[in-house]
Amino acid sequence: MRKLYHLLKLYLCFLVFFFVVFPITPTHCLGHQCLPKQHVALFIFGDSLVDAGNNNYINSTTEAQVNYGPYGETFFKYPTGRFSNGRIIPDFIAEFANLPFITPYLYPGYHQYSDGANFASAGAGALVETHQGLVIDLKTQLQYFTKQEKLLREKLGVAETKTLLARAVYLTNIGFDDYGVLLFTTNSSALQSYPQEEYVDMVIGNLTSVIKEIYKKGGRKFVIPNLGPFGCLPFARALNRALGNTGACLQEVNPVRF
Ligand SMILES: *[C@@H]1O[C@H](CO)[C@@H](O)[C@H](O)[C@H]1NC(C)=O
Ligand SMILES: *[C@@H]1O[C@H](CO)[C@@H](O)[C@H](O)[C@H]1NC(C)=O
Ligand SMILES: *[C@@H]1O[C@H](CO)[C@@H](O)[C@H](O)[C@H]1NC(C)=O
Repeated sequence: MRKLYHLLKLYLCFLVFFFVVFPITPTHCLGHQCLPKQHVALFIFGDSLVDAGNNNYINSTTEAQVNYGPYGETFFKYPTGRFSNGRIIPDFIAEFANLPFITPYLYPGYHQYSDGANFASAGAGALVETHQGLVIDLKTQLQYFTKQEKLLREKLGVAETKTLLARAVYLTNIGFDDYGVLLFTTNSSALQSYPQEEYVDMVIGNLTSVIKEIYKKGGRKFVIPNLGPFGCLPFARALNRALGNTGACLQEVNPVRF
């Protein structure tokens, strides 16, 4: 009986020792931070529809930096850099996915990379020339993502980063500004010399290259919203009125076929 008791004590000591010294850790993240099993990150690329404030941290102009009221007044109660009085689409997606609001990549001191990051920049296009010098173009956004990927590997290890990138959602909203510069820039830029079909191929081509790069890095879940009825934006309708028409949607710039 006494012997059994001693054996039991020894066994309990062993259990305590074993689980305190070697807690149950999946072997792939030994020595690194391990993420919850179903953790899904959200990476955001694109323009003002999804920019959460990156343009506040670059040299730009007041039209591309909304760090003043009434922006932000209904939800955050201060201008966050979002082109909205409240939340933007990625914020609602983040809420739905039980993630915090995804922080702009350029936000000083941002390191919560395992939740994702927002690389979007108001005014940016798929083409480098779109609002060049005032925005972070899509290619540069991809370069920032590559930098973040390296940091993730250091923090989480190779295997866990691979899992995170494969499981993550990549939202890319781009294109409005590539077409907008043609319509609403009076100073004819180099871009205006392209035939329409060729121009569209260039925009789609550059977007496709970025998506392919993310795919190569392991990304699999892509969200790429289509462009809305461009000609119905308030400023397109104002332009229509200025052109001597009614102020209805400017039909010639609305998509007619897909
Ligand atoms: C922004 O502009 C200021 C003043 O012109 C300059 O000192 C700074 O280096 C610029 N920053 C970047 C990131 O270009
Ligand atoms: C048009 O753009 C060019 C190059 O960006 C610039 O040098 C020129 O001053 C601009 N012209 C006008 C009228 O704004
Ligand atoms: C990307 O855009 C540039 C102009 O910025 C163009 O010269 C190039 O052909 C485009 N790439 C693709 C793959 O369409």
